[in-house]
Amino acid sequence: SKLKEGSVIWESPSNIALVKYWGKKEHQIPENTSISFTLNQCKTITELTFVKKNLTEEFSFDVLLDDQPKPEFKSKIATFFKRVEDYLPFLKHYHFVINTKNTFPHSSGIASSASGMSALALCLMDVEKLHNPQMTQDYFNKKASFLARLGSGSASRSIEGPIVVWGNHPEIEESSDLFGVKYPYKVHDNFSNFNDTILLVDKGEKQVSSTVGHNLMHRHPFAKNRFIQAEENISKLKSILASGDLNAFIELVESEALTLHAMMMTSLPYFILMKPNTLQIINKIWQFRKETGLPICFTLDAGANVHVLYPSIEEEKILKFINTELVAYCQNGHYICDKIGFGAKKQ
Ligand code: PMV
Repeated sequence: SKLKEGSVIWESPSNIALVKYWGKKEHQIPENTSISFTLNQCKTITELTFVKKNLTEEFSFDVLLDDQPKPEFKSKIATFFKRVEDYLPFLKHYHFVINTKNTFPHSSGIASSASGMSALALCLMDVEKLHNPQMTQDYFNKKASFLARLGSGSASRSIEGPIVVWGNHPEIEESSDLFGVKYPYKVHDNFSNFNDTILLVDKGEKQVSSTVGHNLMHRHPFAKNRFIQAEENISKLKSILASGDLNAFIELVESEALTLHAMMMTSLPYFILMKPNTLQIINKIWQFRKETGLPICFTLDAGANVHVLYPSIEEEKILKFINTELVAYCQNGHYICDKIGFGAKKQ
């Protein structure tokens, strides 16, 4: 076969789940369906260079972050390569250089796994496409999401935007456990321009990885009910996205965030990823919403940072509130202004 050489660059965004993925079966199959907003500013940009080599037993690659060698990232990528090698038979015929950078600070407590793994999956799909140029865009996206899922479950939701569903759900056509799909229904205007202001409460490395957290859902006393609840919340969110009911949206999204953390607190061993300032912020948001009636809510991922979600038309009032009342609870006053985005792009 005639293997080609070259390099490709993809930028891929992070995403924030509205209905959370927490708990998986073997081979990164989720226990429940999840749905997320794709972000716009928080991205990973990855350049993949691929040079032919003789077939060897081991994978051959170098990893750089911001042009600096990162040997400590190699084992994670080797694990990913092992998981995807059956689907990408060219892997052992190349030496790869993976040069990656993030638009958000490395130690911001913002997980780079969704954006990082999806960017790498897209680069690898481009190598496959070079040898198989007739593949459809639909196949390309699905397989990129499939590969990204094998890197990090939530990465399967970062290929497209603005809203992505991952997990087979009876009320979402074409949805699958194997890859994320673009949300296939029209959403109300209330949800077409949404901001996510990410308050960086704790930039440190978290004490419990999401891999460990997912595994603690095995033999978790509330797991079965949680997975049922998540599927029901997908159905509820489908009607909310159609009707534009912001109050119902707020209730569902906040309940999902607190349930995620409740699962952590009720695992064995139990753990808490929220910090005192996380709770301070949540209480301030509730107080502000009560006083102003503005449609603002929070969500959390597996960490202490708070994602503040609100329609973009309310930006002025809400940024004013964040700047006067919430920055005090952020580490070094640091927050990131993001909004709904439209998925990964080739450079
Ligand atoms: O993709 P993982 O394995 O790091 O899991 C991420 C899980 C949450 O961020 C907590 C929720 C989600 O659905 O993104």
